[in-house]
Amino acid sequence: MIWWMVACFPTHPVEPGATPGAAPEASATYVGSATCGACHVSANEVWARSSHATALATLTTAQHGADPECLACHVTGFRQPTGWTGNATPALGNVGCESCHGAGGGHAASPTRGYGRLPKAASTCVGCHTRDNSPDFVWSGYWPQVEHGR
Ligand code: HEC
Ligand code: HEC
Ligand code: HEC
Ligand code: HEC
Repeated sequence: MIWWMVACFPTHPVEPGATPGAAPEASATYVGSATCGACHVSANEVWARSSHATALATLTTAQHGADPECLACHVTGFRQPTGWTGNATPALGNVGCESCHGAGGGHAASPTRGYGRLPKAASTCVGCHTRDNSPDFVWSGYWPQVEHGR
């Protein structure tokens, strides 16, 4: 069980609750990208083609699918309330909509404006696209590859 293996490494240097990129609404729950995509069809098409949608498989292939040092940036809501916990939360594998927009259960149940607004700038990305993990990252080169709207 992946959650059990995570529990074996409590001293890894990932801050409990630290999930780069996510800024959850207070008390919102994670629902997963498929729920968002049912309404946001074009955003979902862009996302599904991007490597964000397969980021957990990348870790598994690299034999690090249960490594807490890696999961924080390769799944959605790692160590956040209602976030990814392993096999029990398959909808939250990978870098999902909510990795950037924040937990969106409240919005998904009752869609309004105001949820999930982000700066169109590198600050939205560099929590994960760090110098070490993404040395070639520049906004002007990376955003066009994942750019989406409604
Ligand atoms: C039931 C349909 C539905 C679901 C599910 C849904 N949305 Fe929305 N979303 C909407 C609608 C409708 C709007 C526009 C609201 C308006 O203009 O009043 C919107 C607006 C947004 C906006 C723009 C907000 C703004 O202030 O401009 C973002 C970002 C967004 N949704 C992301 C998401 C994400 C991420 C999820 C999954 C967690 C999600 N949505 C789930 C229907 C939905
Ligand atoms: C929660 C962490 C996280 C956030 C936030 C994030 N990314 Fe990523 N991104 C990743 C990971 C992990 C990968 C590698 C996925 C893989 O290859 O399996 C990736 C890959 C990419 C790639 C593909 C790079 C390539 O060479 O194939 C692009 C483009 C990208 N991200 C753009 C962005 C942009 C633009 C933002 C901000 C708007 C952003 N990302 C925010 C984690 C994140
Ligand atoms: C701070 C966030 C972060 C952490 C922690 C992280 N990654 Fe990533 N990873 C990324 C991002 C962002 C990318 C996309 C890089 C790009 O294409 O610019 C990526 C890409 C990758 C890739 C595909 C690209 C490549 O280099 O071949 C692999 C494999 C990978 N990560 C494995 C790991 C492993 C294994 C760990 C743990 C030891 C890990 N990652 C930890 C953010 C992270
Ligand atoms: C890598 C980070 C990232 C991921 C993953 C991501 N988004 Fe976004 N999204 C952004 C950014 C940045 C913007 C541009 C901000 C803006 O337009 O204000 C944006 C814009 C949007 C908008 C348009 C908001 C508006 O006001 O027009 C919607 C809707 C949206 N995203 C929904 C989604 C959905 C649904 C998913 C998943 C299928 C998703 N996003 C995945 C970063 C992300």
